Amino acid sequence: MQKTILITGGTSGFGKAIAYLFAKHGYNIIITGRRQERLFDIAQDINIQFDGIQIQTLCFDVRDREATIKAISNIDKVLFPTIDVIVNNAGLAAGLGTIDEGNYADWDAMLDTNVKGLLNVSKEIIPQLIAQGFGHIINISSIAGKTVYPRGNVYCASKYAVDALTQAMRIDLLQHSIKVTSINPGAAETEFSIVRFKGDELKAKQVYDGFTPLNANDIADAVYYVANLPAHVCINDLTITCTTQANSHYSIKNL
Ligand SMILES: NC(=O)c1ccc[n+]([C@@H]2O[C@H](COP(=O)([O-])OP(=O)(O)OC[C@H]3O[C@@H](n4cnc5c(N)ncnc54)[C@H](OP(=O)(O)O)[C@@H]3O)[C@@H](O)[C@H]2O)c1
Repeated sequence: MQKTILITGGTSGFGKAIAYLFAKHGYNIIITGRRQERLFDIAQDINIQFDGIQIQTLCFDVRDREATIKAISNIDKVLFPTIDVIVNNAGLAAGLGTIDEGNYADWDAMLDTNVKGLLNVSKEIIPQLIAQGFGHIINISSIAGKTVYPRGNVYCASKYAVDALTQAMRIDLLQHSIKVTSINPGAAETEFSIVRFKGDELKAKQVYDGFTPLNANDIADAVYYVANLPAHVCINDLTITCTTQANSHYSIKNL
């Protein structure tokens, strides 16, 4: 039977690359995001590029609990009888400043999306994984969830929370044979920095000056690898940086 992957934040960056890679390998795809037009375009393109793939798009904000519940309940159970993999990827950094410079809107956006959004989606999908007796939850955390970096405060806190939740989910879901994995990328050039700097593309570009960062396909490859191991094997935690970055602190730019 064809497998299905559900990816949150499928309109851009890692999520979009994951959708294309899994579709290429014959998975059915459910992608979510807030930008309806992008969801539509990606679904249409995947349908054109890959034969025999079922794809459903769900347009909602993961921060909105009612919308999340409604969207997940709209998954077509005939086209997608099982959810084999769920990638909790939707997330963002908003701003980069010392704790006294922080603003409430940015803090809420990060904590509500990266932590509570991940919980909202997981809570709605986990009962199905338990009923199936299998499934794989892959949480996209960050090296920011392993080492705090200057001016990263609340973003780092949100990813530390993802790290803790990943460990907790793995313990709680062991009895149901559900795999839980955390993937922790380092600097990767997506729309992440454009979002962080609120549309300032020059500032975003400067983040990657002087080195070759990861790209979205690198992370998609890692997700595909961890999701396609034998049933008895679970990668718990996978940290990936580009060759010129050691962790949140040390890269070729600041040695
Ligand atoms: N790029 C990096 O350097 C890096 C490093 C480590 C970890 N990460 C993490 O990787 C994940 C993906 O980031 P990316 O680099 O691929 O960034 P991106 O290109 O900006 O993609 C972020 C995705 O998240 C979705 N999203 C954001 N807020 C949402 C919300 N409230 N509700 C629903 N969807 C939402 C966006 O879709 P819509 O705007 O359409 O809703 C978009 O599809 C994030 O969790 C990020 O923290 C990124």
